Amino acid sequence: MDSKPTRGGRRRFLRQAGGLASAAALSSQPAEAATRPSRDAPIESLIARMTLEEKAGQLSLFFDDAREEAPDVTPAQRAKALDAVSAEIAQGRVGALFNGLGVASGRALQTIAVTRSRLKIPLLFAADVIHGMRTIFPVPLGEAAAFDADLAERTARAAALEATALGIHWTFAPVVDVARDQRWGRVVEGAGEDPYLGRVLAAARVRGFQGLDLRRPEAMLATLKHFAAYGAVQGGMDYASAEVSEATLADVHLPPFEAGVRTGVGAVMTAYNDIAGIPATGHRRLLTEVLKRQWGFAGLVVSDFASDVEMVSHGFAADDKDAARRAILAGCDMSMASGAYLKHLPALVREGAVPMAEVDAAVRRVLGVKKALGLFDDPFRSLDVQAERSRIRTPEAVALAREAARRSVVLLKNEGRLLPLRPEGTRISLIGPFGADRAHLMGPWALWADHANSVSIEQGLRAALPDPGLLEVAAGCGIEAPLAGGLEAAVAAARRADVVVLAVGEGDGMAGESASRVDIGLPAPQQALAEAVAATGKPMLVLLRHGRALALTGAVREARAIMACWFLGSETGHALADLIFGHHSPSGRLPVSFPLASGQQPFFYNHRRTGRPQTDVKETAFKARYREVPNEALYPFGHGLTYGEVRYSATRLSVATLRGSESLVVSATVSHIGGRPLREVAQLYLHQRAASPVRPVRELKGFKALELAPGQSAEVEFRLSRQDLWHAGPDGQPLLEPGLFEVVIAPDAVAGTPIGFEFRRG
Ligand code: NOJ
Repeated sequence: MDSKPTRGGRRRFLRQAGGLASAAALSSQPAEAATRPSRDAPIESLIARMTLEEKAGQLSLFFDDAREEAPDVTPAQRAKALDAVSAEIAQGRVGALFNGLGVASGRALQTIAVTRSRLKIPLLFAADVIHGMRTIFPVPLGEAAAFDADLAERTARAAALEATALGIHWTFAPVVDVARDQRWGRVVEGAGEDPYLGRVLAAARVRGFQGLDLRRPEAMLATLKHFAAYGAVQGGMDYASAEVSEATLADVHLPPFEAGVRTGVGAVMTAYNDIAGIPATGHRRLLTEVLKRQWGFAGLVVSDFASDVEMVSHGFAADDKDAARRAILAGCDMSMASGAYLKHLPALVREGAVPMAEVDAAVRRVLGVKKALGLFDDPFRSLDVQAERSRIRTPEAVALAREAARRSVVLLKNEGRLLPLRPEGTRISLIGPFGADRAHLMGPWALWADHANSVSIEQGLRAALPDPGLLEVAAGCGIEAPLAGGLEAAVAAARRADVVVLAVGEGDGMAGESASRVDIGLPAPQQALAEAVAATGKPMLVLLRHGRALALTGAVREARAIMACWFLGSETGHALADLIFGHHSPSGRLPVSFPLASGQQPFFYNHRRTGRPQTDVKETAFKARYREVPNEALYPFGHGLTYGEVRYSATRLSVATLRGSESLVVSATVSHIGGRPLREVAQLYLHQRAASPVRPVRELKGFKALELAPGQSAEVEFRLSRQDLWHAGPDGQPLLEPGLFEVVIAPDAVAGTPIGFEFRRG
């Protein structure tokens, strides 16, 4: 529930850039001028003095294999790299480095840049800080389940605190790709399938990373990625093509990016995919027309890792040089890892294939970001030896990791109130490959995690039990392979238990980049384990570990209780014990729909109705459905139970007709009718009955969290105005169509009975 685009984000970024332009001057600028950050005298003077080679250097970002903590780099490789990169920096051929850590080496490299390079332009240090640095928070998809912008902002800020203490200025996060196909491995990195939740969390995470003042040493430049439609790759296969209509692009995939830009994000990363045949890194309309002109984005656009030269493989560019030309002309300011700009831009300009003005515009953006971070005044910001020692794994960060993990868990099912378990006297058998595991707690993109201090499920449960001897642990099988004798041992352990806690799901490597799956069920050995253990007849709680919605079958689906636990990070075990033993009530809500079967993908709640909708599962012939399963979710978007029970009243409206610029109050009463205190997430969904293009069956337009004690009721209210009724027309342009709408306040995306109102222009 917010309004159409403004230039606010650009103003905010420029203000952080040290007031490059006044807000008043900006508002009177024509759209054309908004493609370029305003001129800043010291930056212009630098650009005037730079050689073409130095400009190409500033536009180049390289993998940092020279610092202490570059992933997968041996000491010998590092020593060699240090000499090579030092020489390159001294010659002004490096604008930024990424994925190396360490303050001492960072200071050494920065010293070369600001003393030995001709123009003394400081380096920018970047890294993939996606969900924590040393202290790891839940994966972003998991944290999205908290439906809580404040939490997302706090964990991003905590990640920035640690990352900047380790010598990082710039993170390649947040991932704001809307993902509607759970086969895609990178669902785990974003906020799920809904653009509204995506917008809210994109803005929150940008605020968290960047803070109010980017110049502060603990503020970190954020990057919205991957622009655009990466979440729409066909078949959910990573790096594949996206084939999306202009309307879907504008309504679903672009809004989280726009929200991040409006919040003042400093960087945007292009995507690997092509969109209807145009690779994102060479997509001038998106990068220049939409992002820079229409939205007024004033920061820098960076390619993904070699995505500029990959335009050759796409069949879009003839060779690397042509790829560099196409990328810079499209509006990609900085080249990551390929070296294509460094190698080819000078010749391209000399040959007249790329105007110098385009190169200068890109350099202006890169230097603008360096200025915004305060690097010209203090090149050694975020390179503080003292902070490197003291600002890591603080008690506050660890407590936040536990809170965030707790809040990310979604209680999918709790038949006969199996949960919470009584910690006293209950014999628990913890079974499955993730019970004692400490190698798969973090999920993808935890490159520098503190594994030594992480808490497994077993450790967490033991710590919470008055008699830890009542806990028995058996792996049963590996993640994707059986274990000799494992099944028998697990069944025996189950027989000795009062309750089985089955920890199954996906390993780190089964989600994330390049981890698309054709079948989103459990690996066969784990399913076999679940069946064997369930056959003992013992009550079973399933703890799922996963980076996407899963298709649950058999004994897992039939278990008495199921918790969606994602990858919860450093404090996994403690957070789960908090919930399992009822010290806290679960409160998470699904940010992705759990389907009935893998083959339903892509599956998302906000689909269009079709001309043959299946409105009742008993309708089978000539309906939009598959033969094997009804056209519905096992657990819909927004679903999540607590240890209490709530009832929603019918949805009420303040008026039956919404006119012109008036607004409408939608309300309902939510009553706690039994059980423990709870946090309920009331969700507002909208549908327009007749529109062109056709509108989704439901769209989330707002949500509110209510803390309710047993017996307590609360009124929940949302205000709707015409700003909430816009959608994209067939050409992607905003459209407001009068007519009949329906709204409902509900606990998930399919519950409740919508109530209608009419919108008239005047
Ligand atoms: C490729 C990934 O797509 C991107 O998300 C990441 O930031 C870069 N590699 C750098 O590691």
